Formats: sequence, structure tokens, C-alpha cells
Amino acid sequence: MPDAMAQGFFITGTDTGVGKTVVSAAFAALFKKRGLDVGVMKPIQTGCASRGNDRIASDARFLMRAAEVDDALDRVCPYRFKDPVAPWVAAEREGVAIELDRIASAYEFLSSRHRIMVVEGIGGLLTPITPTLAAMDLARLLKLPLVVVASTRLGTLNHTLLTVRWAHQAGARVLGVVFNHPIRSAPSLAEKTNPEVFSRLSSVPILGMLPFTAGMSVERGRLGRVRGLGDHLNEGLHHLGIELNP
Ligand SMILES: Nc1ncnc2c1ncn2[C@@H]1O[C@H](COP(=O)(O)OP(=O)(O)O)[C@@H](O)[C@H]1O
Ligand SMILES: [Mg+2]
Repeated sequence: MPDAMAQGFFITGTDTGVGKTVVSAAFAALFKKRGLDVGVMKPIQTGCASRGNDRIASDARFLMRAAEVDDALDRVCPYRFKDPVAPWVAAEREGVAIELDRIASAYEFLSSRHRIMVVEGIGGLLTPITPTLAAMDLARLLKLPLVVVASTRLGTLNHTLLTVRWAHQAGARVLGVVFNHPIRSAPSLAEKTNPEVFSRLSSVPILGMLPFTAGMSVERGRLGRVRGLGDHLNEGLHHLGIELNP
């Protein structure tokens, strides 16, 4: 890749709905606060609502607002599908073949214009985007290390360890895990203890823990206090290995 390209990372999750978009937006807001020009990408989004001929990509819109960028939506989110299913299925139902080259050239364009790129993945690592390629192949194609978002809820130890071990087995670099609490209820015993137990079972660092924050909605485009959530990632930043001086 050319020297002028941004440093970046690929935010994957243990599942859909765990908080990838919120964590990506929180990172983007934190970089902005540190004076760094950050670009965002959500290469494929499914379950897009339609407005006229347009497809509303709520994740991409949320990320663009958090990063305060005005890049073309076709670059930030080149593939926007209607049905709320995995990309391969959604694309097939619309008679479209997802071309990784198109995603790679959009990434190349954006990363030549920004210092840091935050790319939100699709579902988890093995979410299919074509019959033969999964989300993690996209991270590999873009040469991006991974950040894993996990929820704190019961079951997360299994999901998070599976994700991290599979990533390592496939030769990917995992920079760290962010534990997010996406539900309003007070943390249960499992939710309180899971991050600490994870850290005893894995050498992958925890980059931060995000509490539930009322008034924020990715689907409704309400940023709420997502910028404040960025502060919870401050201490883990050094694990990302990025140059933080503007
Ligand atoms: N820390 C949080 N506080 C409040 N709401 C959250 C938090 N994290 C996620 N959410 C909400 O939970 C839902 C799923 O989060 P999202 O980031 O879209 O997950 P993913 O990108 O992994 O599918 C969204 O409605 C989002 O607004
Ligand atoms: Mg998302």
C-alpha cells in the first residue's frame, strides 16, 4: 500500500447487536478530540430502509456524524442492501455480486485522505459476504488488524474466546477487545465479572469498557453522548500502536 495511506483497524464483533457501531463511533470521536483526522467505513450494510431510490445505511450515517466527515456515502458504504440478512444472502436476493475490489478501492481513496481509518465489519468474523468469503477476509484484504467488540452479558466468555482464537488461528492480529454494555438494566453478576475473567483467560488486552448510555440510538441516528463514551477508550489507545500526534 502507498505510504500516504492511513493507519487503521477493523472493528469486528462477537455477534451482531453487541455495539460495533457505537464502539467505532466512540473511537472516531476520541480521535477527533485528539486532533486527528479520522475516516470511517462500513463497507457493507444490510437491512437498509428505503427513501425514494436511496438506501439509508444507519451505521454509516452514525459513523460519519461521529467522525464529522462528509465523504461520499458510496465510498463510506459502497454496498447497501434492503433485507436484514447476511451480506451474501442480501446481495443474492437483489441479484448483485459483492466485489471486494470495489470495497478496496473505496478504502484506498478514503485512507489517502484521512490519518486514521475506522472500518466497521459486518456481523462477526465468519459472517458470509460471498459463497466463499467471510467478513474476516475483508479485514485481510484491507490489511487491517482487528478490534473485537463483545457484550458483557452471560455467554460472552465463550463468544469472545472463540472469536479471538479463531482470528489468531487464521493469522489475524487482534489488537484488543472492547466490552460494551448495550442494555439498560444494571449489570448482573456475570456482566460484572466477565471482563476480568476474560483477561485471566486471554493475553489479548481489554481496550476499554463502555457503560450503557441512555439517549443514543444507531437506528434513529441519535448520537446522544457517544462522544463521552470515547473517553472510556482512552487508556487502551496505546495498544492500538497508532501514532497519536496530529
Ligand atoms: N453502550 C451503549 N449504551 C446504550 N445503547 C447502546 C450501547 N451500545 C449499543 N447500544 C445500542 O444497541 C444497539 C446495537 O448497537 P450497535 O452498535 O448498532 O451494534 P452492532 O453494530 O454490533 O450491530 C443500537 O441500538 C445501539 O444504539
Ligand atoms: Mg453496526
